[in-house]
Amino acid sequence: MIQEIQRSLGQDWNRFQSLFAGSLDSEIPLLEKANRYLLGHGGKKLRPTFTLLIAKALRGFCNENVIHCAVASELLHSATLLHDDVADNSPTRRGAPTVMALYSPTTAVLLGDFWLSRAMDLIIDHPDKRVLHIFSKCLGDLACGEMLQLEKAEKLDTTEEDYRRIIYNKTTSLFEASILSAAYSVEAGEAEIEACRNYAFHIGQAFQMRDDMLDYSPGLSTGKPVGQDIMERKITLPLLGLFARAPKKVVREILRRMKNPDAALAGDAIALVSSYDGLGYARERLDAELKSAVGSLVSLPVSEARSCLEKLAGLMAVRTV
Ligand code: IPE
Ligand code: IPE
Ligand code: MG
Ligand code: MG
Repeated sequence: MIQEIQRSLGQDWNRFQSLFAGSLDSEIPLLEKANRYLLGHGGKKLRPTFTLLIAKALRGFCNENVIHCAVASELLHSATLLHDDVADNSPTRRGAPTVMALYSPTTAVLLGDFWLSRAMDLIIDHPDKRVLHIFSKCLGDLACGEMLQLEKAEKLDTTEEDYRRIIYNKTTSLFEASILSAAYSVEAGEAEIEACRNYAFHIGQAFQMRDDMLDYSPGLSTGKPVGQDIMERKITLPLLGLFARAPKKVVREILRRMKNPDAALAGDAIALVSSYDGLGYARERLDAELKSAVGSLVSLPVSEARSCLEKLAGLMAVRTV
């Protein structure tokens, strides 16, 4: 369905794709090879899809600045995944070995830096300074979110409020940059910007909630391993659901085992989350975010782009990749 939406963006999507592929040239053979590998194993390209749709929903067309912001969003996203897979020591992504597993963690970190610098090149001359500011903010947010996640993994005392703050920082902040940069690029007014900000906030939170549900959903082909989060001592929404619904004794035992994760922990936690319907608990919160996301769009004029933004919200509820 996302591909259908991207196809419906026609020429604008093609402009995005060709600038994206053309923005990574380098003369270093290893860099070229790794770039080709990553470009050949692309993801859903969700963030640039939002960038283009927002511009279309606001003004009916995408100017060159919008295309630049869309490419910067995807480059920056890919850079953070390269770094995240090193931080999480993750063997697979998008159904294939990660760059850090195939080449080396050093290569993945450096490749991430390179993609990040190319993202910055694309927005540095943007006429609206808020664009550079919001992308730079999101990099800071990401680092703070990952640090907070580390601290909480050490202490094992994540509350739902902490969880929401972590996912805002590590994921939603980039959704905001992808979406608000489009609004700034078409010189949106204050009320339009506010609507976009609300949509971005709720869609971003919902997106990461779904990602965290997928980590407790074996049997779906997500392209990523399941059960990773608890092994890294990350307390995410399905586990918070288990904590809220299971007897204290069960919670204490899981927390005890998280201090020193053994090989069986992931499977046992997935089974417990299923028995106490931790996924149902997460689902309720995800649905509330999506309702707010769709509600934020009502002030925008009715258009095909707006209805695609509504459809994408629906996709967040059910996506498996
Ligand atoms: C994965 O994002 C990282 C998270 C923020 C959960 P996506 O699921 O958008 O990644 P790709 O680019 O489509 O693989
Ligand atoms: C999101 O966190 C990653 C970034 C924002 C960089 P996760 O660690 O949950 O993402 P996945 O599951 O590896 O894609
Ligand atoms: Mg990860
Ligand atoms: Mg995850």
